[in-house]
Amino acid sequence: MDVLRIRGGVPLSGVVSASGSKNAALPMMASCLLAEGPTILERVPNLVDVQTLGQLLTDLGCAVRTSQDGTLSIEVVEESSSEAEYELVRKMRASVCVLGPLLAKRGFARVSLPGGCQIGHRPIDLHLQGLSALGADIEIRNGSVVASAQKLRGARVTMSGPFGSSVTGTCNVMSAATLAHGKTSIEGAAQEPEVVALAEFLNAMGAKIEGAGTETIEIEGVEGLRGTEFTIIPDRIEAATLLIAGAITRGSLAVDDLCVSHLEAVLEVLSDIGVAVEATSSSSVRVDATGNSFRPLRVSAVPYPGVPTDVQAQLMAFLSTIRGQSSIRDQVFPDRFIHCAELNRMGASIQQFGNRAVIRGVDRLQGTHVMASDLRASAALVLAGLVAQGETVVRRIYHLDRGYEVLESKLRCVGADIERMDAADCMKPVQTEMRHSA
Ligand code: UD1
Repeated sequence: MDVLRIRGGVPLSGVVSASGSKNAALPMMASCLLAEGPTILERVPNLVDVQTLGQLLTDLGCAVRTSQDGTLSIEVVEESSSEAEYELVRKMRASVCVLGPLLAKRGFARVSLPGGCQIGHRPIDLHLQGLSALGADIEIRNGSVVASAQKLRGARVTMSGPFGSSVTGTCNVMSAATLAHGKTSIEGAAQEPEVVALAEFLNAMGAKIEGAGTETIEIEGVEGLRGTEFTIIPDRIEAATLLIAGAITRGSLAVDDLCVSHLEAVLEVLSDIGVAVEATSSSSVRVDATGNSFRPLRVSAVPYPGVPTDVQAQLMAFLSTIRGQSSIRDQVFPDRFIHCAELNRMGASIQQFGNRAVIRGVDRLQGTHVMASDLRASAALVLAGLVAQGETVVRRIYHLDRGYEVLESKLRCVGADIERMDAADCMKPVQTEMRHSA
């Protein structure tokens, strides 16, 4: 099993590019089930999650072809199987995105229930309520959602739950409603850029969707959708992670090929902390943290356009290195704090109180062996390793590979001392050499 070995203390400098968005690509791939003819997606990140969904779509009768340049072609060639098995769904919760498209196009879907995960309890009740409001018969049978409908009917649906609106729930219901009879109104819709991108994609296929990006999305059902060509939006979470990498190492780093307007809340946080942040165009941001003095901060992770929960762990790593008391509240996933214990093993001082973590900044983090627990927690540990004194070994990086395309190569290109290796090759004791003072 692979690990990442990082020797901390090198301020990152130079330019690095963001990849296409995983969270935009996945629901778009699933929505290809709705269309007649081939769809070509460009700028698809080469990630394990994308491969997993590609495998699921193949099982569901699609011809899926990937090419080296990030182009993915998907065409439904056969509609006899509408069942998503546990083996694939357990690897990736976003597999649930096939539920709405299968139901709308084939009238039937059986999708294994995704279950819980390391970032907390993750129900899909809003997805199911939304699809039943469209007229689907839904039951839970032997651990799977079994949904059927001769023809979905437009309806008024709400997507807001106790922790905000569901992003993939909105995607599921919006996709299904494109082929429903009549008009659907999704209230309390998630407003994330990935939802807007999906609406634009579905419209390019012939759907009639308005209002994506606001809290009410209106969909007029159409008879059919056809394949199209579409370019995936930049990955705002990866871009934020790279910007924080520049800041945590006290470097000067530009990230290109991102979308500045998707990152406003994160840029504001970095600027409030004292990082010099400059948007040099609508697709490029430079952070400069050389010689700055930083302030602790209180941050809340909330739905878009606020600070994303998917950046919470990375910000926590950064705040751990800033003198004074900071706090982070996660209002989307209140239990998403497993990374605190691993950061504390690196010398951080973080205490969790319910959905809030209090962070007392330390002068330096120390390298050690740490264990990644989920995708964004892995990124936080890598960031901490980049600034820690000595050597950090991050284990279980299969979590990282689900959502970051060639992260270590990108970081190495801007100066990081980071390498991927077999776990067996890094069993020697961690070096305690003094290479850095944060
Ligand atoms: C998506 C993102 C994930 C991100 C999350 C929140 C993808 C593939 N994943 O996940 O990276 O962290 O949005 O921005 O896009 N909830 C319910 N009932 C439901 C569904 C959700 O109560 O039926 C709750 C969840 O437990 C959570 C909150 O609503 O507390 C938001 O979850 P949701 O937006 O659905 O997350 P995902 O779409 O799974």
